Amino acid sequence: MPQKIAAGNWKMNGTQASLSEIQAIAEAAQESPCATILCPPAHLLHRAASLAGPLAIGGQNCHHAPSGAFTGDISAAQLADCGASYVILGHSERREGYGESDSLVRAKAQAALQSGLTPIICLGESQEQRAAGQALEVVLAQLSGSLPDDARVIIAYEPIWAIGTGLVPTVAEITEVHDALRAQLHAIFGAAGQEISILYGGSVKPSNAQEIFAITHVNGALVGGASLKAEDFLPIMRSLAES
Ligand code: PGA
Repeated sequence: MPQKIAAGNWKMNGTQASLSEIQAIAEAAQESPCATILCPPAHLLHRAASLAGPLAIGGQNCHHAPSGAFTGDISAAQLADCGASYVILGHSERREGYGESDSLVRAKAQAALQSGLTPIICLGESQEQRAAGQALEVVLAQLSGSLPDDARVIIAYEPIWAIGTGLVPTVAEITEVHDALRAQLHAIFGAAGQEISILYGGSVKPSNAQEIFAITHVNGALVGGASLKAEDFLPIMRSLAES
């Protein structure tokens, strides 16, 4: 069975003052039967990792090279050095805002694995692609182009139009994509593909988490806005535990 995972993506939000939220989430993670991962901005990684306990810490991006003249970037080994054990890769905000391609995401995933990090690889279609009936085709092409050679990954399906908008796909739409992702992971990795956690992301909140976690092949969530405050993230963690 894939591991159930509640993952939080803080994006470019939070300062030292937010460490109390991380502390509260870490305390709740201690009680949870599910895995909990929090991905704060880079400047908080080290402090977060030192108080996290059973809460795992992740970065939000890394460079594909191990080191070198890449001003402003961070390597997978440097994330690991801060205490991170995961890294979000290929988020649509990076694919769209920084032109990250599937092959670059794949190179970053390989680099992450080499440094002992588990990549959380994000996939998702735009509103136009969904309206044109291309959602499955787009997401499956992103999956095969972005996957490393190794099954030690987490996949996050995040329709771009659902991120930060309050819009959520229907249960049937999520089911269709997650079923297809599971089938393709099985085709690529065999039995190991059945063990990969497939998260849903995009406007997950306490009020819709239960319905989303009831879907077959949804093994958890990647949560943006509702992970910033423990009072929002804890009910989502609880819904996952009860699913
Ligand atoms: P959201 O973001 O939960 O704020 O929609 C999800 C994400 O971008 O990972």
